[in-house]
Amino acid sequence: MDIFCIRGGTPLHGRIALHGAKNAALPLLAATLATGARCELLDCPDISDVTAACAILRHLGCAVEQHGGIVAVDAGSACRSDIPAELMRKMRAAVLFLGPLLARFGTAELSLPGGCVLGARPIDLHLRGLRRMGAEITLDGEHISARTDGLHGCTVALPLPSVGATENLILAALGCRGTLTLCNAAREPEIGDLIIFLRACGADIRGEGSLLRIRGGVPLTGARHTVLPDRMEAATYLAAAAATRGDVTLTNVRPEHLTAVLAVLERAGCTLTQQNGMLRLRCSRLRAAGPIRTAPYDGFPTDAQAPLMAAMAVAEGVTVFEENLFEDRFRHVPALRALGAHIHAARRYAVVTGVRELHGASMTATDLRGGAALVIAALAARGRSRIADTGHIDRGYACFVQMLTELGAQIEREM
Ligand code: UD1
Repeated sequence: MDIFCIRGGTPLHGRIALHGAKNAALPLLAATLATGARCELLDCPDISDVTAACAILRHLGCAVEQHGGIVAVDAGSACRSDIPAELMRKMRAAVLFLGPLLARFGTAELSLPGGCVLGARPIDLHLRGLRRMGAEITLDGEHISARTDGLHGCTVALPLPSVGATENLILAALGCRGTLTLCNAAREPEIGDLIIFLRACGADIRGEGSLLRIRGGVPLTGARHTVLPDRMEAATYLAAAAATRGDVTLTNVRPEHLTAVLAVLERAGCTLTQQNGMLRLRCSRLRAAGPIRTAPYDGFPTDAQAPLMAAMAVAEGVTVFEENLFEDRFRHVPALRALGAHIHAARRYAVVTGVRELHGASMTATDLRGGAALVIAALAARGRSRIADTGHIDRGYACFVQMLTELGAQIEREM
């Protein structure tokens, strides 16, 4: 497993272009299976989760070509409906193939997905919704076996707005008789991107926000679609710029999807300017941002919690983080402490008392966003740091070392 070697203390400066969003690309790739046609996704990030999704599509019999930022999937040749455990284990979003498999073949054999360990991460809402639509699903240990003689429309009210369950049910509904009415659907921009793609393929999806109506059985075509820019990648580089007291401009950015993150950064004393589709952050003095509570969109995103915590570790004053989405999402805290951060975490709260300076340390990444947080803190710290298990970070950040190097960071990958 690779190691990142970082020499911290240099403010980040410069301009970088964001990639397409991981959390949009993965459901889009699963959606190509449901279309049964040839689709092209542009600006698809070159990350290991996308590679894993492509491996699943190939296993199912789809023709997949990947070059540059373009992924072309011809799902017409898909011929099987099982996904082996070793492919399912690679990422959480592997479960998003369940809905398309049922829509397309009426059967699916797979296992529980892997992905970042952030707590229990059940998939009961996915299964409950699919069962309501007429799927028979058995869960035997890790193995999921699903079949149906035909999904049918119905009303599914999600007890909480799960991103993955919303996506899975939309995708399954493409193959149902009648209309699925989905209440309390998640409203993340990546779901909006999925709906834009599916509509371009001919899908009949009405409504926006938390109430969606998907009419199934509509013949679908392929489509060419540019993946939405990554708001979590944006939040990460903005947090790194703030932590190092830098001046960074992002292009290919959608600031309207970052409202809650930008509000926190502004409260923390950063100057944010938007011009010609670019977003610039300048920071000379960083102060505590007040309480940061994670919530479903358009609240403060749980995926930005760890990167912002790294920045608040070197801010003046005390910041309280409240993690409301996942029960075990402070796994980055011990490593931040190893760098000299003052953080006390208990249950869903983490109290961060900013320190003047962090110092280099050796650490291990435990998950994707937590790993990025360690990189941010190491960039802000005096001296050298080493971060092991960077595979977690490579799952979600395209060209991470290269992008940071372009901003003046001293970071190298040791194989
Ligand atoms: C997606 C994102 C992830 C982000 C998360 C929350 C992708 C590929 N991943 O993950 O980066 O952190 O949204 O914004 O898009 N839950 C249940 N039962 C279920 C499903 C979810 O109880 O069947 C709970 C989860 O445990 C969690 C909450 O609902 O507490 C939100 O999870 P969910 O929105 O489903 O997250 P993911 O789709 O896994």
